[in-house]
Amino acid sequence: MQHSKIISGIDIGTSKVTTIIGQYFENENRFNVIAVSSIPASGFRKGQIINLEQATQTIIQSIESAERMAGFQINSASVSLSAPHIESINSKGVVAISNPNGEIEPVDIDRVIEAAKAVSMPTGKEIIHVIPRIYTVDGQEGVIDPVGMNGIRLEVEAHLILASNPALKNLKKCFENAGIRIDSLIYSGLATAKAALTETEKELGVALVDIGGSNTTITIFSENSPVFSSVLPVGANNVTNDLAIGLRFSIEDAEKIKLRLNKMLENKKFEDEVELTHFGILTEEKRKISLQTAINGIIKPRLEEIFSLVYQQIEDSGFSNIIPAGIVLTGGGAQTVIAKEVCSQIIPLPLRIASPPKIGGIVDDILNPAYTSSVGLLMYCLDDSKRKSSSSSNKKIKVSFNNLFDRIKSLMEPLLP
Ligand SMILES: Nc1ncnc2c1ncn2[C@@H]1O[C@H](COP(=O)(O)OP(=O)(O)OP(=O)(O)O)[C@@H](O)[C@H]1O
Ligand SMILES: [Mg+2]
Repeated sequence: MQHSKIISGIDIGTSKVTTIIGQYFENENRFNVIAVSSIPASGFRKGQIINLEQATQTIIQSIESAERMAGFQINSASVSLSAPHIESINSKGVVAISNPNGEIEPVDIDRVIEAAKAVSMPTGKEIIHVIPRIYTVDGQEGVIDPVGMNGIRLEVEAHLILASNPALKNLKKCFENAGIRIDSLIYSGLATAKAALTETEKELGVALVDIGGSNTTITIFSENSPVFSSVLPVGANNVTNDLAIGLRFSIEDAEKIKLRLNKMLENKKFEDEVELTHFGILTEEKRKISLQTAINGIIKPRLEEIFSLVYQQIEDSGFSNIIPAGIVLTGGGAQTVIAKEVCSQIIPLPLRIASPPKIGGIVDDILNPAYTSSVGLLMYCLDDSKRKSSSSSNKKIKVSFNNLFDRIKSLMEPLLP
């Protein structure tokens, strides 16, 4: 019989709420995306809820549309979020090994992680992730898995990701009202990393920059773990707003113009002045748009500002010297015309643009940077579920071995002197 597991994720973005459903065939270790649905994020502003009823409806619509595609209903999902209230702290935990024979047990790991969580928390914040980075056993640094080792003192360096408690409560309320259980709440930078970064980049040190609608999510990795997580309240919608103001168009028309500029630049047939119909704007107006004005006069200064803020954050994080793999740019905003050029001018580090990997069942429509975080969410949940099932099967093996030893001991006891 084929065993399969359904994995569902809901990515709360500032411009869209995406529900993505996948199926994992355990026996074949094969994974398939079976449904994706994006709904404009109404009821949210900069990733936070501003209208409970509207936000709930957005979530319901996104889920129902994915359910129709999948052909079944879901009652729970993992939820990823990114908003400027997210921040991170690196902390240390230290404990004495509890086992009298000095062997480190899983319970010591739990204790040292608890100790790392004991930091003074900014008001109104709660911890959503504790990521153990490096363990130290009796001064020996760089231990990856201390369980089974012997020692007296266990230390951990952990990366803590914090989020606003009221903002999470509001999000949870929407899901409750939508009748969907939240399996886990995930900082979207961690999810995006699953789809965007290579193991080598994470090992060497890299800054993942996800330019969304109203937010830019920055996550720095070094030695395979996150070391800095932060969300800036700027994004590619600022570019649209500037175009709307600068060229005197509605936001909808400015968005149409922005989305077509890449093609216009590639297509050499366009001179500088382009008629509105080429941008899909239906109007009687005989106006033309100057590509120079739109790109170099309006978009470029805004991109320069966004990338300067990103660079400032990276410098302020204290990790700018340990990211030789440079910048990996993703999110819908990474597709903004001249984004790559401007990023390279402002940030003197290697740069690449990341799109989601072509995993099974994925449709071409979502093979672009705007969906890296959603596909990454699914990959994150899949890894998590594999990890949980392997740790529970390890426990089962350990329990059955222990039972076996106990039985042998009890059978031998009468024979022992
Ligand atoms: N092909 C494209 N060319 C240029 N810009 C694009 C393109 N596709 C999307 N964008 C822009 O990307 C932005 C949305 O990005 P994305 O879908 O990654 O945001 P989000 O995930 O909803 O938000 P966030 O990550 O901030 O929470 C919008 O400003 C949109 O105009
Ligand atoms: Mg996003």
